Amino acid sequence: MNGVANLMLAGDTDVGEIAFVDLKSQQRRIRARIEARLQAVLDHGRYIAGPEIEELEALLAEKTGAAGAVACASGTAALIIPLLAAGVDTGDAVFLPAFSYNATANAVLLTGATPVFVDIDPATFNMDPDDLERRIAEVKARGALRPAAVIPVDLFGSPADYRSISAIADRNNLFLLADGAQGFGGRLDGAWIGNLAPATATSFFPGKALGAYGDAGAILSQNLGTLEQWMSIRWHGTDSARKNSVCVGFNGRMDSFQAGVLLEKLAIFDEELEARTMIAEIYDRRLSNLASPQRHIEGAQSGYGYYSVRMDHRDDVAAALKAKGAPTAVYYSTPLHKMPAFEKFAPAEPLTATERLCEEIISLPMHPYLTPDQAHYVCDCIEAALASFRD
Ligand SMILES: Cc1ncc(COP(=O)(O)O)c(C=O)c1O
Repeated sequence: MNGVANLMLAGDTDVGEIAFVDLKSQQRRIRARIEARLQAVLDHGRYIAGPEIEELEALLAEKTGAAGAVACASGTAALIIPLLAAGVDTGDAVFLPAFSYNATANAVLLTGATPVFVDIDPATFNMDPDDLERRIAEVKARGALRPAAVIPVDLFGSPADYRSISAIADRNNLFLLADGAQGFGGRLDGAWIGNLAPATATSFFPGKALGAYGDAGAILSQNLGTLEQWMSIRWHGTDSARKNSVCVGFNGRMDSFQAGVLLEKLAIFDEELEARTMIAEIYDRRLSNLASPQRHIEGAQSGYGYYSVRMDHRDDVAAALKAKGAPTAVYYSTPLHKMPAFEKFAPAEPLTATERLCEEIISLPMHPYLTPDQAHYVCDCIEAALASFRD
């Protein structure tokens, strides 16, 4: 237990323990099938490049509508590989939102390119296309860097504004790489994340909506032509016979055990996505008048990797919820351009929407095994906490 004996709804219903992310219930549900998958890897012994890898790649492509998929060691590897393949290098500017996980910026810097931070839309929390245009114009006017790529992030699972950003990328000849690390299951106009940009990186970190039992990720492509080069970079830059180095690469491979786990989790993903969406609908309904839940652009459905909302008194509400047995998290309290590793790339003027969001953002418990009663309990706690700050 989390130190709180009974979590009661107003109607005297005990809602039980609330987890922020619940991997145990999911494991109980599919444990036998996962064990069979792990056993199969032990039996065939191909721990690297086992048959599970190709099976997973085919299923990921089928599920998302992408032309193909490349299984990787992590979401970070899945970001770096397409950037290297696109020739992104020293002297290049790569545009990314200032409100993201540090891995997005790290991937850019590891290629030798320079990150250019873009502000976000205060309602969707995703890259603001108007600010992107402004930043591209600034880089062009200064002339020191070549605008080379843009990496929108599907924050918390909500698709970025690919309609606008694809057009901007086309007009400015930028390579468009989607950071869908948090986005698996998100859709825009019916198309899944993975099929919304020429290249999409996703993460299967255990806590993600589709998570492995260790580190893993994948690159999804709308174009079969890119796959061979990505696979080569993933395997130390070797040719398909794995004899000669044909480009610079590294060990970016996923192992067979992780692929086996992911195959079983993918089999229940649609049901889990439906359950996440049902919880999000309760939160939306209950919280829209109290705070500002993340909005999704027209035609978009979130994969609800996380459910996040901006609110006044964020830290006090988090403390009140913790005392009531409802865990929360803050992603992110510091914008990328204010972190020591990246501050030298900060723009001269503040990124207002990003900086304000860092003070107000909070993520609530979100997973497919959360019950409607638990979601209502979280909302009751938020309502009570906010009312106490008004008094
Ligand atoms: C937005 C974003 N990009 C990239 C990553 C990196 O993924 P991984 O941890 O699998 O390398 C993450 C992981 O949390 C992320 O949230």
